[in-house]
Amino acid sequence: MAGLTDRYGRTAVDLRVSLTDRCNLRCTYCMPAEGLAWLPKPALLTDDEVVRLVGVAVGLLGVREVRFTGGEPLLRPGLVDIVERTARLDPRPKISITTNGIGLTKTAPALRAAGLDRVNVSLDTLRPERFKQLSLRDRLSETLDGLAAAADAGLTPVKINTVLMRGVNDDEAVELLAFALDRDYRLRFIEQMPLDAQHGWRREEMVTAEEILAALRSKYALTPSAKPRGAAPAEEWLVDGGPATVGVIGSVTRPFCGDCDRTRLTADGQVRACLFATGETDLREALRAGAADEELAELWRGAMLAKKPGHGIDDPSFLQPPRPMSAIGG
Ligand code: GTP
Ligand code: 5AD
Ligand code: SF4
Repeated sequence: MAGLTDRYGRTAVDLRVSLTDRCNLRCTYCMPAEGLAWLPKPALLTDDEVVRLVGVAVGLLGVREVRFTGGEPLLRPGLVDIVERTARLDPRPKISITTNGIGLTKTAPALRAAGLDRVNVSLDTLRPERFKQLSLRDRLSETLDGLAAAADAGLTPVKINTVLMRGVNDDEAVELLAFALDRDYRLRFIEQMPLDAQHGWRREEMVTAEEILAALRSKYALTPSAKPRGAAPAEEWLVDGGPATVGVIGSVTRPFCGDCDRTRLTADGQVRACLFATGETDLREALRAGAADEELAELWRGAMLAKKPGHGIDDPSFLQPPRPMSAIGG
C-alpha cells in the first residue's frame, strides 16, 4: 500500500480530524471574545463524509491513529456515531479526542462504549476566577468534572494540555502538576505557537520549555524518561524518580518536525499536511463530485508532497497560516 509519505521521507500514520471550528470557550490566546466567522453548515463534511474519508485514510493510506479535534469536538452532534463507525474500520485505528472537557460528564460513557480509547483535556488553570478571565466563561467546574468523568469511563490515560502564558498563569505550573499527580492524569505543558486568530503571538512573551522545566524543578526532581520520544510532541520527564511523568511540548524551541507523522483533515474537508501549512488540498469537492476511494487517496498522497521540512517559525519570512488553530484542530 502506498502511504502518505512526503518529500523528506516522513510517513503520516496519525490523522487529526477537526469536526467543528466552533467552541464554547473563548481562550484569549486562541480566539476573540466575539468568536470567529464560523464555517457555514453546507461547507462542513457530513458525518457520512467524515467516516468515508477516515475510511480512505485507514483502509488505503496506512493511517493507524485517529484523533478528533475542533474547535470543540464535543459540540459535534454526531460525535458518538462517528467514533462508533471509525471503530468498525478494518484495521481498527486507535481513536482519541482533544477537548476542553465541557460535556464529558454526559458523553464519556457513550464515547467509551462507541470505541473511544483516550481523551486529552485542555486545562490552563485551577482557579475559577482565572479560568473566567482566560476563557471568558465561568466553567472551570465543568472541565474538572469532565476530566473525572473521562477517567471513570476508562478513557485512560487521561492527559491534560496546559498552555502557560507569561504573567497570566505561569505561576501555576507546580500546582497544576500536584493536581495531576494526585489524580493520575498525565500533564503536558505546551509552548504557545503563532496560531491564534488575532495574530497577537510574540516570541518574547512565550513561556519556553526551559522556563517550564525550571519552574517545576523548584519543587520536583525531573529526570529524562527512558521511553523514546518517537514522533510524539511531548518530551517526557520522570517526576521524583517516577513512575509518574510530566511532559513538555516545546513545539517552538524544541521542534519535532523531523519526526512528524501527522496529517490533518479540516471540518470542511481540506487536507493540511502540517499545522503551519499555508496551502490545503480540497477533498470535499472531489468527494461530492463522486470520486472513488482510490482517487481520494491519490489526492491525499499528493497533498503530502507539499509538506515543508519544518514549521519555519524562526525564518525571517515566516507567515502565520490563514487558518487559526481553532479551525485546524490542535
Ligand atoms: P497524544 O500524546 O498521543 O495523546 O497526542 P498529542 O499530544 O499529539 O495530541 P494533542 O491533541 O493533545 O496535542 C497536544 C498539543 O501538541 C497541541 O495542542 C499542540 O500544541 C501540539 N501539537 C499537536 N500536533 C502538533 C503538530 O503537528 N505540530 C506541532 N508543532 N505541535 C503539535
Ligand atoms: N499554541 C499552542 N497550543 C495551543 N492550543 C490552542 N492554541 C494554541 C497555541 N497557539 C492548545 C489548547 C488545547 C489544544 C487543542 O491546543 O490549549 O490544549
Ligand atoms: Fe476553544 Fe480550544 Fe480555542 Fe480554548 S483553545 S477557545 S477550548 S478551541
